[in-house]
Amino acid sequence: MNKLIQTEDGSHSIHSSQFNVNYHSLHGAIQETQTVFIDAALNFKSAYKKQISILGIGFGTGLNAFMTYLEANKQELDIKYTAIEAYPIEMHLAQQLNYPELLNASSERMSFLEMHRFKEELFRMSLNFSFYKRIAFFEDLAYDKEFDIIYYDAFAPSSQPKLWERNVLSKMYQALKPNGLLTTFCAKGSFKRCLKSIGFRVEAIPGPIGKREITRAHKD
Ligand SMILES: C[S@@+](CC[C@H](N)C(=O)[O-])C[C@H]1O[C@@H](n2cnc3c(N)ncnc32)[C@H](O)[C@@H]1O
Repeated sequence: MNKLIQTEDGSHSIHSSQFNVNYHSLHGAIQETQTVFIDAALNFKSAYKKQISILGIGFGTGLNAFMTYLEANKQELDIKYTAIEAYPIEMHLAQQLNYPELLNASSERMSFLEMHRFKEELFRMSLNFSFYKRIAFFEDLAYDKEFDIIYYDAFAPSSQPKLWERNVLSKMYQALKPNGLLTTFCAKGSFKRCLKSIGFRVEAIPGPIGKREITRAHKD
């Protein structure tokens, strides 16, 4: 089953025995989320837009959603966050994750755990952040021009090749509003070529420690 592990920046992650893969880079879960999702997507967008709708594919440990929540409060944004998760982690593992403490947000531990508990129900976490979690397979859902940002954080193509194919990526294109963008840790050539063929403008940008490049794709 799932097992708690520690990464090099001290933050926890999870090893999935079902997929035989870790949820984050061993170089650091927090530093990875900061670079791939907070800096490359959220901060890029919030430089010129304060009302932002986000689709997080792969809720997992909740780290992307939680760091986005903290950032929304800090920057006084207005964020609607929809998280999709096919295989929720066990609550006893969520309770052990050290993210609130490492992010200097111990007082937000209850909110972090509530994010894990809530599903199929809107959770207004603060003036700046509302949260909605769906337990579903992303490939079974259909959204139409609803999101400014997609955080694409499924397992890598080597573990879940079907989730990186054209039909699933086209659903993401459809889910984005015009001028929306997607970021992900994956920088594989075939993946980027597929994004381009769908209509995305694709950028290779510097990755977190241990990863030269990541991908930001725009629906211009
Ligand atoms: C790389 S982990 C990252 C999770 C999360 N972003 C985090 O910080 O922990 C990938 C996540 O995608 C979820 N997942 C796998 N297949 C999925 C699917 N078809 N639809 C939605 N989520 C899926 C996994 O259960 C796992 O939680």
